Amino acid sequence: MKTALTQALGCRYPIIQTAMGWVATPELVKASVGAGAFGFLAAAVMTPEECEAAIVDIKSHTDAPFGVNVHSFQAGIDRIIDACIDHEVAAISYGRAPSAKLIEKVKAKGVLCVPTIGAGKHAAKAVALGADVLVCQGGEGGGHTGETPTWLLLAQVLDADLGVPVVACGGFRDGRGLAAALTFGADGIAMGTRFLLTEDSPTPLTTKERYLQSDVTRIPVSTKLDGLPQRMIMNNRLEDLERSSALGMLVRAIANGWRFKSHMEASWMEILTAAWKMARGTELTLGQTLMAANAPMIIQKAMVEGRPDDGVLPSGQVAGLIDDLPDCEALVREIVAQARAHLHKAAEYGETDAV
Ligand SMILES: Cc1cc2nc3c(=O)[nH]c(=O)nc-3n(C[C@H](O)[C@H](O)[C@H](O)COP(=O)(O)O)c2cc1C
Repeated sequence: MKTALTQALGCRYPIIQTAMGWVATPELVKASVGAGAFGFLAAAVMTPEECEAAIVDIKSHTDAPFGVNVHSFQAGIDRIIDACIDHEVAAISYGRAPSAKLIEKVKAKGVLCVPTIGAGKHAAKAVALGADVLVCQGGEGGGHTGETPTWLLLAQVLDADLGVPVVACGGFRDGRGLAAALTFGADGIAMGTRFLLTEDSPTPLTTKERYLQSDVTRIPVSTKLDGLPQRMIMNNRLEDLERSSALGMLVRAIANGWRFKSHMEASWMEILTAAWKMARGTELTLGQTLMAANAPMIIQKAMVEGRPDDGVLPSGQVAGLIDDLPDCEALVREIVAQARAHLHKAAEYGETDAV
């Protein structure tokens, strides 16, 4: 299944496994690229040493190309970028606050840039900054997300005709979605939640079960975790966050900031600078600004420690439509087979004598 996306990234199928903090570990990336997708390692919650070790681990298992997801403001970003270049990682992905300097540096070394955008107005800017592929995440997508629904965002970006492969993201789980995206004019799909809900993701089973039980109408967007709109499954923790006062948020921010600082082996200055850069241009309170930089520690409780009601559960709404945990190999095989069947059927409608 060759598209402009498979040609750009060198993967077998036009399917991207997106980065998810604590979830897109070497295990998941090895499994997704082994199945023919293009996988992104989630390095935004890693130290430079952890990231380099993860890259080496993946490389020692596969020759398939893969990418690394970074936040341009994270502690140790320069060393992470150097590791990507030194180990010839195929691509980097990034979202908010892209750094022109960083993009220029990796592109000069042949590393592709695959930003995710959540609003039509960011598309042309991302390409001007150097995007080689654009991932367009609609509002139904998991984690930090925008307001425009996937198909409307995709239409906006395709209409803009920016000359780079365009990937539909947010709400995908099967071959129907892939076929629809390709016939709509996109060059592939990107999925987060669907890859989280595989046998290969490292997320503890107790937490995966909580995702499988979720209802599509109970996966709202909240700004209470870190001040930025984030889609998460409603649970006790999120209900508490929704009720919390500004003072409560500040206290929690400091406590979690302390834990995140130790985890990332970062200084307070690095943590505060990251928070400031992330919050720049938004109207965040002091508590929210601090939360912005250390929310990963609250997410970790659910995603690593397997306590789904003590942490938050970033998720796309599509979790409400998923009820199985296949391995990546079976998932990708099934998606491609189903997409082919739908594309054949759609082609029949295109015949001139079709009714
Ligand atoms: C648990 C979880 C963690 C995420 N962490 C990150 C992250 O660290 N960096 C990032 O750029 N996007 C992150 N995202 C967003 C995903 O990469 C992806 O864009 C989104 O899940 C796509 O929507 P879908 O879940 O409907 O497929 C996360 C999403 C989830 C569900």
